[in-house]
Amino acid sequence: MNVTNNPFSEEEFNVFQQLLAPLDERQLAWVAGYLAALSVRAPGDRTSLPEEHPDSNGTLQSTPAKKLTILYGSRTGNGANLAKIALRMAVEQGVEATLKNMEDYPVKSLEQEERLLVIVSTHGDGEPPFQAKTVYDFLHGKRAPGLSRLEYAVFALGDSSYFHFCKTGKEFDSRLAELGARRLRPVQLSDVDIKPEDESWLKEFFGQLKGEPAAAPVRQAGFKLAKALKGTAAGSVLKSNALDRSPANPASYNRKNPLQARVFEKINLHGRGSDRTTLHIELQTEGLTYLPGDSAGIIPVNSEQLTDEVLAVTGLQAGEKVEVNGVQSELREALQRHLEIGKLTPDQIGKLIALIPDEEPVSLSSPDGAVATRSDTKTGLAKLTENPSALQEYLYGRDIVDLLTDFPVKLTAAQLTGLLKPLQPRYYSIASSPNAFPGEVHLTVALVGYEKNGRNKRGTCTGFLSDVTTDDETVPVFIESNPHFRLPDDPSTPIIMIGAGTGIAPYRAFVQERELTPGAGKSWLIFGNRHFETEFLYQTEWQNYLKSGALTRMDVAFSRDGAQPVYVQHRMLENAKELYDWIAMGAQVYICGDMRKMAADVQQALSTILQQEGGLSAGQAQEELDLMQRERRLQLDVY
Ligand SMILES: Cc1cc2nc3c(=O)[nH]c(=O)nc-3n(C[C@H](O)[C@H](O)[C@H](O)COP(=O)(O)OP(=O)(O)OC[C@H]3O[C@@H](n4cnc5c(N)ncnc54)[C@H](O)[C@@H]3O)c2cc1C
Ligand SMILES: Cc1cc2nc3c(=O)[nH]c(=O)nc-3n(C[C@H](O)[C@H](O)[C@H](O)COP(=O)(O)O)c2cc1C
Repeated sequence: MNVTNNPFSEEEFNVFQQLLAPLDERQLAWVAGYLAALSVRAPGDRTSLPEEHPDSNGTLQSTPAKKLTILYGSRTGNGANLAKIALRMAVEQGVEATLKNMEDYPVKSLEQEERLLVIVSTHGDGEPPFQAKTVYDFLHGKRAPGLSRLEYAVFALGDSSYFHFCKTGKEFDSRLAELGARRLRPVQLSDVDIKPEDESWLKEFFGQLKGEPAAAPVRQAGFKLAKALKGTAAGSVLKSNALDRSPANPASYNRKNPLQARVFEKINLHGRGSDRTTLHIELQTEGLTYLPGDSAGIIPVNSEQLTDEVLAVTGLQAGEKVEVNGVQSELREALQRHLEIGKLTPDQIGKLIALIPDEEPVSLSSPDGAVATRSDTKTGLAKLTENPSALQEYLYGRDIVDLLTDFPVKLTAAQLTGLLKPLQPRYYSIASSPNAFPGEVHLTVALVGYEKNGRNKRGTCTGFLSDVTTDDETVPVFIESNPHFRLPDDPSTPIIMIGAGTGIAPYRAFVQERELTPGAGKSWLIFGNRHFETEFLYQTEWQNYLKSGALTRMDVAFSRDGAQPVYVQHRMLENAKELYDWIAMGAQVYICGDMRKMAADVQQALSTILQQEGGLSAGQAQEELDLMQRERRLQLDVY
């Protein structure tokens, strides 16, 4: 045999022939199949093929593959959307998979699972979304089983502007390992928008399950999952909004394609003398479809002033060309419309440190004339990262201008845009019913304003909304569906609506809707703010609803009017008996507004009422509240 046009040396080929010579036909067929399988693996990957064996005809036979369950825990729908996409990707790649929602997942089944893809978000202040809580608690509890037969990977959704970025996903990942399960891939921490690396992670994960080589990381900017699946059944289902993390809106508008809504009303709901402002804003939104309980996403534009300050502190030219998310623009445009310049996230400190070259000694002047060496800056930044609570305190209320003033680092335009996060929409609970105000969306917006580092700051989106005028100006808006905050299916069910400040917004939508609903049941509003005189939001409307019967009862708490602060939870406890009777009658309870303090205090008050009036122990009351939440008799919209 002529060996000159094969890739072996003569010696290697002899060894090869010797190896094959004694084999019978069946064995030769097996080797042919084995080599065929090996040849499609990554160059250099010569690991054994664990699950596939060529049969006597040389064709690949799979041992029964382990079953994959895609188990998701999602509150606002992003994880749920992604889980559906993941399922279709799995099917597309020939991986048999089942989709399960943690909300109705029997935790005991965990022991039977062979392979899990956990997709879970983080909410609250680093907490699991309620939908994932039962599974989370079970895994972290004393009764958690050993899971040595399980293989798993975790895809964590989060937002790095929160201090506890992707905490729940990280916790699932480490806990499953602690329980003996085998991690198939490092946990994926996905920050707000699905990025090419997130998609690569999923593709590679499914490839891995099939024993395929890891795909090369996707590097092209703007790579779309929908594009990857183009022409496939999955692709056609996904292409509308595969990567839009907002839940599907029946209308064609979404986060990537917002409606430009004209502002036709904007009034301050606070009375004269108030030191704060809450705006009532009416938008013309013909073409947007929503339900009471949904939120509106607003895509803000950064202020001219802050944009100028960023240019000044960096010394960069407004007209420099930059690329952000695959889109070319001038630096000023990118800073104003595409990048988050109004607040900082913990990871940005580490990124800034990495941008400081090591060599010494070089002086960098900050705009105020102070001089620091690179090592001063690097050491100062590094020190900041050593103590998480000090870092959190430093970041609170500071922006990129503060950071580069405190720690001067010379950045190129590309380094600056690489350091900044993409500008995110802000969400506002819709304060109108689409039946009462067709073609309109009303919002209740508390303006954010404070002083930090000697600079007067405004919130990015609230500042933007306070600047827009009713003279034909528009704001980009889309609907964020909120299926977990809905009026009862049966309109005769009584409702109890508890909220403080802008937490009142969705209740205005609920009561408007109920006023138009024949046979609507009783409704009770418990509302709190600081001052009766100036901050009783929509006061005359509530009084009219009380008169018309659309609202049955209203209790208010104004925290700063008396000698002692009075909050909504105090009003609840004062009316414990009636509140308990309403709940016992089947009333649906809603909590909306501040997540950090109010929501916890209100839940504590509910627990006290269940104990006091219902004779439950503290543990039983907590179980009852959990059950109420699972059965949607208690619904939260807190932020
Ligand atoms: C589902 C949902 C519904 C919501 N509904 C409403 C609603 O109906 N009405 C409403 O007004 N808001 C609502 N919000 C909040 C809203 O989305 C925005 O977060 C809020 O308006 C602030 O956005 P911003 O862009 O103006 O501020 P940002 O630019 O995002 O700045 C906020 C940041 O400013 C800093 N900061 C704020 N105050 C201070 C201070 N005193 N000192 C130092 N630093 C400070 C903090 O770092 C804070 O994170 C909702 C949020 C969610 C998630
Ligand atoms: C009120 C609220 C609190 C949040 N808290 C956190 C947090 O502590 N850490 C984090 O990484 N992300 C946090 N997020 C961001 C969510 O995890 C992110 O939006 C995610 O995409 C939501 O996925 P889901 O829709 O599947 O629940 C929070 C979001 C909201 C609305």
